[in-house]
Amino acid sequence: MTKYEIINEGKTKFYAPLGKISKKLPVFYNPAKEFDRDISILFLRATGKEKVLDLLAASGARGLRLAKEAKAKVWFNDINKEAVKLIKKNAKLNKITPIKISNNRANELMATMKEKFDFIDIDPFGSPINFISQAIPRLAKDGILAVTATDTAPLFGVYPWTCFRKYGSFSLKTKFSHEIGIRILAKAVIELGAKQNISLKPIFAHATQHYYRIYFQSKRSHVKEILQDIGFIYYCPKCKRRFATKFEMHEKCKCGNKLSFAGPLYIGNLWDSKLIKTMISLENPKYIKQMTKKHEKFLNRLLEESKINVPYFYEVGELGWEDKKLDEVVKELKKEGFKASRTHFSGKGIRTNYSF
Ligand SMILES: C[S@@+](CC[C@H](N)C(=O)[O-])C[C@H]1O[C@@H](n2cnc3c(N)ncnc32)[C@H](O)[C@@H]1O
Ligand SMILES: [Zn+2]
Repeated sequence: MTKYEIINEGKTKFYAPLGKISKKLPVFYNPAKEFDRDISILFLRATGKEKVLDLLAASGARGLRLAKEAKAKVWFNDINKEAVKLIKKNAKLNKITPIKISNNRANELMATMKEKFDFIDIDPFGSPINFISQAIPRLAKDGILAVTATDTAPLFGVYPWTCFRKYGSFSLKTKFSHEIGIRILAKAVIELGAKQNISLKPIFAHATQHYYRIYFQSKRSHVKEILQDIGFIYYCPKCKRRFATKFEMHEKCKCGNKLSFAGPLYIGNLWDSKLIKTMISLENPKYIKQMTKKHEKFLNRLLEESKINVPYFYEVGELGWEDKKLDEVVKELKKEGFKASRTHFSGKGIRTNYSF
């Protein structure tokens, strides 16, 4: 009999197993994702969305917190019976009345249910891609689709052919591979939306070594606009030059070297600056103070990068400025008339419209 511990995240308490993170846990729980859950609470508050489907809920950690800390009404689902028992116990513990707690295979549930949701959260083991097509029809008007991918190795260029098999795009190992990876994931989701005449526009995204997470704003039609933001990133392994294009083909770099490419991928903006500002400024009247300096710093960094619509970044070493402090490099680039900011993707990264 597994012992569940009482976990405290934000203003929510719940039972979950603490142990080595693996599929072998009786119910999945990863304490390292607390920050990601915090951010989803700030996101939900900022968008004012209410009705949530926590499709792959495990202990219910995310859905419970969205209910308790962002006033959401939540339908929880998980295929694991043990998880469903735990969600029921955790809902009681937090005095939360769920819309429903179901024990179904996710795609079967979505194919047969009539309900629509303002926010659908897809947080699987590995790739979310096989849940997207069934989730789209379950989105209410202007609903949000939030997806997490933990299969980052194919996406960031370790297994480019696996990436092609799953996502229909080639990844590429570079210093900015995580951004390529998240943009390939975005493209694959956008493509599935387009097939149902639904535009899925990324409005907020973040990445770490272990997972990528993208929030898409859905809109009926407007699909051509979003498809026009799909293209390629070319990269020269010799001189480190990089650039994005729509559908022109390029073979050689200015330096004469053969270019590598990644894609097709989403080359539009991953963030809505106004939304991030709202997420930051919401930390006052009606909600309990919860944002820490860590959240604020993170959101401010995303806000800065959201203002520079360039789908890649450079590491300072690639620019030949490894000895300089990053903030100094940003300042100098701005003084020269370029846009520049640091990026959450890398502690050594600079996002800029400067090119060489
Ligand atoms: C990574 S965990 C979810 C973590 C959770 N969102 C959290 O914040 O702690 C993935 C969950 O999906 C469930 N699952 C896997 N495949 C499923 C399917 N086809 N249908 C429904 N649930 C599924 C697993 O039982 C597991 O609990
Ligand atoms: Zn070159």
